[in-house]
Amino acid sequence: MRTEQGNDASTVHVTVLLKEVVQWLRPRPGGRYLDGTLGMGGHSLALLAAADEQPGQGRPPAELLGLDRDDQALELARQRLEKYRDRTHLFHLPFSRFEDALDEQGWDGVDGAVLDLGVSSLQLDRAERGFSFLESGPLDMRMDPSDGRPPARTLVNKGSYSDLKRILHRYGEEPQAGRIVKAILRARDEAPIEDTLRLAHIVEQAYPAKWRAKARTHPATRTFQALRIAVNHELEELEYFLERVAARLNPGARVAVISFHSLEDRAVKLAFRQAAKGCICPPRQPICTCGHEPELKILTKRPLCPEEAEAENNPRSRSAKLRVAERLAPGGES
Ligand SMILES: C[S@@+](CC[C@H](N)C(=O)[O-])C[C@H]1O[C@@H](n2cnc3c(N)ncnc32)[C@H](O)[C@@H]1O
Repeated sequence: MRTEQGNDASTVHVTVLLKEVVQWLRPRPGGRYLDGTLGMGGHSLALLAAADEQPGQGRPPAELLGLDRDDQALELARQRLEKYRDRTHLFHLPFSRFEDALDEQGWDGVDGAVLDLGVSSLQLDRAERGFSFLESGPLDMRMDPSDGRPPARTLVNKGSYSDLKRILHRYGEEPQAGRIVKAILRARDEAPIEDTLRLAHIVEQAYPAKWRAKARTHPATRTFQALRIAVNHELEELEYFLERVAARLNPGARVAVISFHSLEDRAVKLAFRQAAKGCICPPRQPICTCGHEPELKILTKRPLCPEEAEAENNPRSRSAKLRVAERLAPGGES
C-alpha cells in the first residue's frame, strides 16, 4: 500500500508491540474488536489475521470497528484493510466517541479493544502537518484539521504567559518552561510565529548553553510534545475513553493501551485501578454501603515494554508501555 509520497505504508509506520497486543487480546472467529487508533491499520490487520487462524467451529469471521480522527490515516487504513472490507467498519471519529460508533453499528459490546496512542510516523513525516521540528512547516499539529479546534500557531501566538507555561510544564514536563515561554513572547512581538522550524530555533536558543550541550534529544522535543497534546486534547480524550470502555466490553474481553509518555501511562494505570476496585466506601466505614463492584481485572501489574530487538529496530517503540485489563462478569467473576 502506497502513501502519497510513494512509500509503503507498513514501512513508513512500524506497528509497536504488535505480537504482544495480539497475544493479550486473543482474537477469535465470531469476535468483535475495537481499534480506537487505526493509524496505518497495523494492529487491526494483525487482529483479524490472527482470528482467522483460530478454528472457526461454524462461527462467522471476526469483525473490526476502527476509528481515527485523521482522515488521511483512515483512508490509508481503509486501503490496507481492503481484504477484510466486508467485516471492517471504519469511522472518522475521535476515540472519545467510540460509543457513537458502536451504537451506529448496533454493537452493544466488543470482545477486545486497543489504543495505540500518539501520532503515527506518517503524520510526523509530513512537514505540512506541522508536527515535526526537523522540517519547515505550518505550525498546525491538529490530527483532525476539520474539527474546528485552533491549530498550534493560535496557542503560540495568542496564549498568555501563564497558559503557555502551564502547557509546557504539564504536558511536556519541560524544566525550562519559563525561559522558553519568555522567548516565545519576545519573538512573537517581532512577528507571529507561524513556522515549525522558527519555533524550534526559538526554543533551542532559550535553552541554557550548558543544558543544550548535554541534551540527549533536541531541545524542542518537549515543547512540541506539549503543544501537540494541548492542541489535540489528548489527555482528555484518553481519560474520557478509559472511564467508559469497561461498560462496553463483553465479560472476559480485554482492553490494551499502548502509551508513549508518563502522563498517558499514569492515566491508564489510575483508570484501570479505579475500575478494578470493589468497595469504594471511606476506609474507616465499618460496613460497606456503596455496593460498588469491580469492573476490570488488571492483567499487567507493571507495564510491558518492547523486547530489545524491537527497541533496536524501531526507535519510536522505545518509550512504549502496554497495559492490559480484562472485563469481569457482573458480580466480579473473572
Ligand atoms: C500511533 S498511530 C496508530 C498506529 C496503528 N496502531 C498502526 O499500527 O498502524 C496513532 C493514530 O491514532 C490516531 N489518534 C490519536 N489520537 C486519537 C483520538 N483521540 N481519536 C482517534 N484517533 C486518534 C492518530 O491520528 C494516529 O493515526
